[in-house]
This record gives sequence, structure tokens and C-alpha cells, in this order.
Amino acid sequence: APVESPSIRRLADWDPTRLESLAQDYGSPLYVLDLERVRENYRRLESAFPDAEILYAVKANALGDVLETLREEGAGLECASAGEVERALAASESAAENGATGANVHYTAVNPPARDLEWVVDAWEEYPDLTITVGAEDTIDRLEERGYDGRLCLRVNPGIGAGHHEKVQTGAAAKFGVPAERAVDVLADAADRGFDVVGIHAHVGSGVSSDQLGDHREFVSRMGDLARDVSEALAGDGDGLEFVDVGGGFGVPYREEDQPLDLEAVGDATRDALGDVDAALTIEPGRYFVADAGVLLTAVNTVKEARDTLAVGVDAGMTTLLRPAMYDAYHPIRNLTAAIEAEQHGASDDERGRETVAQTIAGPICESGDVFCENRHLPVSERTDVLVIGNAGAYGYEMANQYNSRPRPASIVLEDGDVRLARRRETLEDVTRLEREARDSEPSAN
Ligand code: LLP
Repeated sequence: APVESPSIRRLADWDPTRLESLAQDYGSPLYVLDLERVRENYRRLESAFPDAEILYAVKANALGDVLETLREEGAGLECASAGEVERALAASESAAENGATGANVHYTAVNPPARDLEWVVDAWEEYPDLTITVGAEDTIDRLEERGYDGRLCLRVNPGIGAGHHEKVQTGAAAKFGVPAERAVDVLADAADRGFDVVGIHAHVGSGVSSDQLGDHREFVSRMGDLARDVSEALAGDGDGLEFVDVGGGFGVPYREEDQPLDLEAVGDATRDALGDVDAALTIEPGRYFVADAGVLLTAVNTVKEARDTLAVGVDAGMTTLLRPAMYDAYHPIRNLTAAIEAEQHGASDDERGRETVAQTIAGPICESGDVFCENRHLPVSERTDVLVIGNAGAYGYEMANQYNSRPRPASIVLEDGDVRLARRRETLEDVTRLEREARDSEPSAN
């Protein structure tokens, strides 16, 4: 049943004492994800889109615990690669053991490497309910060459994009989808060739805010028109269109002053813009489910007076959370140690409260872009303080990497008052393992 839950969990809603003790127990940097919040987010979305098929875009956070939780709630899974399909099928099996039924797994092939197609077509032989969404006509040929004639969906390029940054506006980008004008011909041809044509798909972009709802409406209404054209063209050819997938992209507030999306209004606007179609509405958000369910904990290692700012060095960097470096993305930051001190001393006691100063918080990577914020006003940081970076549940760990030979952090999950390690921290041994294995497997020179 839908639950009453606030539409955004702000950084101030996380208990500083609990978070600081997690950093002490598990070390830092550390990703923390609250699975109950993931469930709440799912239920809120479900009640705003009561008659839609809901898929979770795995790329936002592919942790097995997240996939199992959302499968148990009833979500299907939208995957961007063979690796994500593998995770989705594994999670579906675990969720089935807990009573979830009918794995609805979609693979959205974007310029798919041959290895991905091979792996997915093999998987389809075992899971014939799999849906493959193609974004290029020659992907259909490549599937046919491999003997695939299963469920096929066409990704179209609707020619309209939206989102929080140029780099995540997909709707008009050349690499995504088949121009919408070609869709009817491509699908009629695929149906003739024996594919089970089930849907059309497009994704306008990521991080769509309430002031971009006009673009969202325009985009969905184009999808509605296209669905009607395709249904007409396919009439008499099998069962017609099963679904219209309008992608994901629902934004969440990152700044304190950002207002959360009015989901009910988005749901109504989507239905309204789609109009009458003889096909189910499918949505596939990623960020919305996980962003505010996760935080990143990081410890202060270095504090120094720099030219115009206090330079604060922490143990997380752009290899841990790439979004600020890649999109100039804003993430809220709080000094947990200072917050706990203030609580203990009484927040009104200025004598003991720390002074607020402009700080530039930076990671350990040798790049000037490796900063989480510049000149942000926060209680003055001291060495060994623990900071928390908010809204880190989406596109956080997923974009982490080993640049500068830095091991990736650990991830823990919270559920029903329990804490468990979901993915251990990488070691230096892990960082060099593949190289050592390659050397060891090479026949020796003599
Ligand atoms: N469906 C498709 C086909 C997508 O490409 C994406 C995201 C989604 C669904 C989910 O979008 P969401 O609901 O999460 O906005 N790394 C960037 C976001 C890239 C999103 C790429 N595609 C960031 O950190 O903002």
C-alpha cells in the first residue's frame, strides 16, 4: 500500500551520531544506503503512476540489495549493458525466493558491443520474457544474425531533450535512438521479419526539474502521437503495441532551496500528454529511487589556509563521487563532527560553536577539478572530522573508478535497524590484481 513519506530526505534528516559511528566502524570513504528509503521512494512513485509499469534504471545504483528490494516491491529492471542484465536476472531470482513474481527485465542496447549482444541473446534463451530495446536499425540485423526473434522495442530519438546538464540531455543527442519519423517503417519491417514487436521507447534526459515540465509534456505528447501511428501501422500484425516507455529522468532537489517535484502533477501531466493509446504506459526512473537514500561519508585529512579560501582535503575524491567534477553538480555537505559538538554544547552557545568560514573541499586526486565545493560556508573543518555528502545514492558508486590507482570505497546498507556490509572496500591488492594475473598466466620466456 502507498505510504505517507516526505518527498525528499534532506541531509539534516540523517542522524549525525549514527553516521559518524558508521564511519568509525567501517572506515571512510563509505557509501551508506538506506533500503527503507528506497522502498518509500518506490511507493510514492507507484501512487503517482498507479496504472504504469515501473522499471528501475539499474545504472543509477546497481547494488544487488537495491535491485532485490525494488524487485520485491514490484519494479521491473531496465539495464544498459550485459553486466546490468546479469545483475538484474540474479536479483530477480533472489527476489523470487522471497515471493516476487514475473521478472520484467529490459535491456536497452546503446551501440551494443558484440560481447553484450551475445551474452544477452544467450540469457534470453533461458529467460524468454526479456525485452530488448534497440536504438539503431543495424542492431536489429545483429540480433537476427544471432537467432533472436523475441520481444523487441524501438528506442526513438524524439528530438527534444531536458535535464540538469547538457551532458545528460539524451532526447536530441545523435547517438540515441532512431529518428522518430523512421519508427513506423522500422517496426513494420521488424514485425515482418518475425520479431515480437512490443513497444516504443525514448528517454528525454536526466534530472528533469519542475521548470522543465513543459518539455516533458511536449516529449510525452510526441510519444503518444507516435504510439498511435505505430499501432495503426501494426494493426492486424500480432497483438499491437504492448507499451509506450517514456524513460526516466525525474529530478530530485540537491540544493536546500530546490523544491521537490510534485509527483502527482507529473503523473497527471504524463497521462494527459500521452492521450488515448492502446498500450500501457511504462516509466523507468533511476535517480528518483535512490538519490536521497544514500550518503557518502568522508574524513578530513588536511586543513590549510589557501589564497582565498580554507582548503580542506578529504579522503573521498572525484574517483569516489564523480558528479561534481563531471557536471559541476552541487551536493549538500555537512560536518558531522561539528554538528555533534554543537548538539552536545547547545547550538545556541556561540562560544563553543565553530565559526563558519568559506571552504574548498577537495579530494586526493591530482586534478584541480577534484573538488566537491568551492568557497562553501560551513563550520570550520578540523583534521579527523567526518563530513557527510548528501544525495549520493544515485550515480555515486556507479561512476567510481580507480584513477590514480585509488581503490573504490565500501558500501553498507541499512535495513530494519540493521547495518550490513554490501560491498567491501577495495584493497591495493585489488587495484593491481588483473595485471598480476596476466603476468602469471603468460608462458614464461624459457
Ligand atoms: N532510461 C534510460 C534509457 C537512461 O539512459 C537513463 C539515464 C534512465 C532511464 C534513468 O534516468 P534517471 O531517472 O536516473 O534520471 N550520471 C548522470 C546521469 C546519467 C543518466 C543517464 N541515463 C548524473 O549523475 O547526473
